[in-house]
Amino acid sequence: MAQQGQLMITPHIAQNSFSGFVSSSLDDILGKLLEGDLDFAQDAENSTMHNLHAFPAKYPPALPRLFIQHLTQPGEVVLDPMVGSGTTVLEAIRIDRHGIGVDVDPLALLLAQVKAAPPDPTRAFQSGSSVCNRAYLMLQRERPSLRREMRRRFDDRTLDFLDYWFARETQEELVALLLQIETEPDPEIRQFLRLCFSGIIVTKSGGVSLAMDLAHTRPHKVERKTPRPAIEEFAKRLRKNVASIQQTGRSPGQAAILCADARALPLRDNSVHLIITSPPYAANAIDYMRAHKFSLVWFGYPIDRLSSRRKEYVGQEASQYDLPLPLPESAQQVIQRVCEADARKAKVLERYYQDMTRVMREAYRVLLPGRCAVFVVASSRLRGIDTRADLCLSEIAQTVGFRVAGVGTRCIRRDRRMMPASRHLDNSSVIEQRMHQEYVIGLIK
Ligand SMILES: C[S@@+](CC[C@H](N)C(=O)[O-])C[C@H]1O[C@@H](n2cnc3c(N)ncnc32)[C@H](O)[C@@H]1O
Repeated sequence: MAQQGQLMITPHIAQNSFSGFVSSSLDDILGKLLEGDLDFAQDAENSTMHNLHAFPAKYPPALPRLFIQHLTQPGEVVLDPMVGSGTTVLEAIRIDRHGIGVDVDPLALLLAQVKAAPPDPTRAFQSGSSVCNRAYLMLQRERPSLRREMRRRFDDRTLDFLDYWFARETQEELVALLLQIETEPDPEIRQFLRLCFSGIIVTKSGGVSLAMDLAHTRPHKVERKTPRPAIEEFAKRLRKNVASIQQTGRSPGQAAILCADARALPLRDNSVHLIITSPPYAANAIDYMRAHKFSLVWFGYPIDRLSSRRKEYVGQEASQYDLPLPLPESAQQVIQRVCEADARKAKVLERYYQDMTRVMREAYRVLLPGRCAVFVVASSRLRGIDTRADLCLSEIAQTVGFRVAGVGTRCIRRDRRMMPASRHLDNSSVIEQRMHQEYVIGLIK
């Protein structure tokens, strides 16, 4: 997996600023794009590679594609500092741009990495099929050694977690699969197989675990759930994912997926031609780790360490950034309103807007002068109060030096994008309607 600071952008790309020449026309282009149709309601995903694994709050691939096509040229650098499932990077490299994706979430990094550098489908299929066969053999012949392997790999707290959420037979099947996946020497194929493995656990229904509804609510255990046979599920997922990478193929552009913090990017000043991203919702409306830990524990992350990683995500209560930053008037007012209803939630919201100030500062630093940044945001509600993410983030962007070229709106299809609002739309409520909209903030450096 990519480590901090590993990226090298070739000097002619990093220094290739057309700012004087392009900036006035880019301004116009960005303004027009923001006024256009950003719903993409009719847009069929043109790459099944975007569906290799479930991920909350993905945006439609057509959204980054539109801005990348119109605001960059082949060979230029497109950055998504909170890349999630890797939508931006895949769309960038498919049209011969250099894609850089940054995230703190280990599952997001794995997914983005596989999308950016998929293995050869034939070899991946052969390797995955052989993993299944050898895992079956282990189950038949070496069951007791699988239990010993579990005790060797996992600490007591992690074993308790696994015992609670996974049936005994499922645990044995999963550890047999893991042991076989780890013998694959090709790193691209190995990462792809790990992604297939994770994909049978992190699903809306909880996959082969005993959890229900991993995507939407706090997961709860269903004792009556008949565990699905893990190796069989893995084989199905393998076939589906191999078909996806076969259909899409390898992309012409280069990609770098970095494990880093959007508030402290390991990139040079003025080195990026376009930023397009969608940050987490205000005040942790989606807890990424809640579902992701169900597969990450199997990859060797102790359960306690995963819980403590939460503080690395933007907007978390416990954060390594303690020095408060001044916030614009709009953000202060919303925080004040929330504070009157709930002081603790107001603190979380304040933390979110401060973290987003740091994200915006970094975005401004690494972007080339005259170039564009696009932030796709949704507003969430705290104690019934709209957090006005569109307004507050636009003002925050201005405080760090950006010019706001415009703010577009788009409707979110509830079956496509997981939202922090209630599931039943009350059309009479203005706030409810706003919760089903996203804002596309267009910025210029
Ligand atoms: C809304 S999701 C992005 C979804 C993405 N646009 C897609 O299509 O898949 C937000 C992402 O921000 C990431 N994130 C949260 N805090 C971060 C931080 N401090 N640095 C980098 N990424 C962060 C989360 O892990 C999550 O993957």
